[in-house]
Amino acid sequence: MKLNEIRADALKKLEAIHAKSERDLAALKTYLFGKAGVLTGLMKSLKDLPPEEKPQAGKEINDLRVELVAKCDEKEKELHRLAIEAELDSESIDLSIDKPLHAVGARHPLNQVRKRLTDYFIGNGYIVYDSPEIETDYYNFQALNVPQDHPARDMQDTFFINDNILLRTQTSSGQIRLMEKFKPPIKMICPGRVFRNDDDSTHSPVFHQMEGLVVDKNVTLCDLKGTLEGFAKFIFGEQTKIRFRPSYFPFTEPSVEVDVSCFNCHGDGCRVCKNTGWIEILGAGMVNRRVLENCGIDPDEYRGFAFGMGLDRITMIQCAINDIKLLWENDVRFLHMFK
Ligand code: DAH
Repeated sequence: MKLNEIRADALKKLEAIHAKSERDLAALKTYLFGKAGVLTGLMKSLKDLPPEEKPQAGKEINDLRVELVAKCDEKEKELHRLAIEAELDSESIDLSIDKPLHAVGARHPLNQVRKRLTDYFIGNGYIVYDSPEIETDYYNFQALNVPQDHPARDMQDTFFINDNILLRTQTSSGQIRLMEKFKPPIKMICPGRVFRNDDDSTHSPVFHQMEGLVVDKNVTLCDLKGTLEGFAKFIFGEQTKIRFRPSYFPFTEPSVEVDVSCFNCHGDGCRVCKNTGWIEILGAGMVNRRVLENCGIDPDEYRGFAFGMGLDRITMIQCAINDIKLLWENDVRFLHMFK
């Protein structure tokens, strides 16, 4: 076959290759350039030519080879482009479709409560302090005036990792860590997860607390009461009253438990307040002087108050639910109710 014929034949075959015929192109390349290909055969036949014709013939064959390789590459690119176009066409998006494409989410009720509380305290000049969930015995207990073997440890069934390391049972550990770093005046809240070996309809092994701590000169129980009253009115409504009941916590002296008047029945008695008219929401007190001493703060110069509340409990009260598991299951039907 003459070179011209080979060229014309190859170009005709290339022309005939259309979209989705990558295989035909591969076959054509083998036919032309493969081991037994036409052009390869021509190159091999050079050896039979008289020596004076070899250079010219070799050049012509090679020129044709270069030309056809370029043409094949071009075809390959074209096929690739056609394939992409076809794919895009098949995937076209119908923008006119009348359907919300994404379900719109919302903050989890627990996070709504946490945000409302933190916003309130930030607005009143408190800093938000983040303290570790994995703690040493010292920060979770000893520095808070709960020595080893103190009976108060029984109130908080602890997950120990080893003799010294545990999952914090209370955000109160944040008080110590903060007072080691910052000196008075202090106004801080410390929200976060805490852990206890408890599991029933109102207790979960993982739950949430928010600690509050104020240390300054001349801080009194009266300041604590005013602070908590302002907070309770903000969360439960302007008509809310609070009451202090004497209590005991090793890290505060005196200690109190704080109730708010029932936001549902305003004191008459109902299901939410178990007919008492009051709902217990937190523990609090004046920071025990030993705790201040443990953090290098002079208790004769400074005094403080502290409080700690259960965020899950407040959320349950606000959402009027009696099973804490609802806060963990992430059932969207439940979550939708509190958007
Ligand atoms: N840490 C206590 C608990 O988990 C709650 C508490 C009570 C925190 C009194 C305080 C406080 O800061 O003053 O039961």
